[in-house]
Amino acid sequence: MLGAEYVCIKTEDDLLLVRNCVRQLAASLGFGVLDATRVMTAAVELGRNTLIHGEGGHMQAAIIMQRNTKGIRLDFEDTGPGIPDIDLALTDGYTSKNGMGLGLGGAKRLVNELTIVPLAPRGVRVRAISWLDRN
Ligand SMILES: Nc1ncnc2c1ncn2[C@@H]1O[C@H](COP(=O)(O)OP(=O)(O)OP(=O)(O)O)[C@@H](O)[C@H]1O
Ligand SMILES: [Mg+2]
Repeated sequence: MLGAEYVCIKTEDDLLLVRNCVRQLAASLGFGVLDATRVMTAAVELGRNTLIHGEGGHMQAAIIMQRNTKGIRLDFEDTGPGIPDIDLALTDGYTSKNGMGLGLGGAKRLVNELTIVPLAPRGVRVRAISWLDRN
């Protein structure tokens, strides 16, 4: 791990901190404008889910390296109710509140890897990874 950042997600304003944090990491790795925008957009959607569905939490961001490629790894963790049916949650149009149900599936399409892990005793970790130069 080459560097790490921690952002608390308790209010809507914290989503700006998430966005800025990811923007800086993407710039420092040399992400192009399009890829930087993709990972920033995914991060804000995941952060909004942490806030709205997860009752708040945090993002831990890290620069990682695998097989000579650098990437950004974003871990969103909360202690909310968790996601009982992950496939359903990823289905476009599914929402348990009054959203559009597009954030999670959209985020998955905007990054290279997205994994959802239940946390004990409560909550969820959503991990997104975007590699430099890997589409
Ligand atoms: N951190 C989380 N904790 C608990 N449930 C979650 C979490 N993230 C997502 N979900 C569940 O997955 C569903 C789908 O998430 P998604 O982001 O696609 O839609 P949404 O947040 O409801 O609406 P939108 O993001 O389009 O405004 C949510 O409605 C919620 O039920
Ligand atoms: Mg959402």
